[in-house]
Amino acid sequence: MKWLLGLVLVLPLAAAGPEAIEKGKAEEKRACVGCHGLRIVHVQRLSRAQWDRELTKMAGWGAPIKDREALLEYLVATYGDDRAVAPIPRSEDASNRKK
Ligand code: HEC
Repeated sequence: MKWLLGLVLVLPLAAAGPEAIEKGKAEEKRACVGCHGLRIVHVQRLSRAQWDRELTKMAGWGAPIKDREALLEYLVATYGDDRAVAPIPRSEDASNRKK
């Protein structure tokens, strides 16, 4: 019976493996660029619950999410709130400004 418990514990980890992350990244490219660029996504550092809410919010606005699970795993693993704060890139306007 122990093996069964082991399987139950291992499965969620397997879901967040490199394959799911790659699938999630592809899903992001497909489903998240219709209305805005990815910078607004990649500067976020959110918890799993917050990313989950974010996906619900975007889906409600019409984001055509198909592989929600992989997308969520990718976002949590890559832009989770345990990640270092993203550098804020300067806007084009600021870069073109004369000193
Ligand atoms: C139907 C259009 C649309 C699509 C598709 C879309 N978004 Fe958005 N998203 C918006 C709008 C509009 C805003 C800015 C509104 C605001 O300020 O809350 C936004 C803002 C955001 C923000 C900034 C935080 C926030 O809630 O404002 C994040 C993060 C985000 N989107 C993630 C995503 C992800 C991930 C996907 C792909 C699943 C996605 N978006 C696809 C419309 C969309």
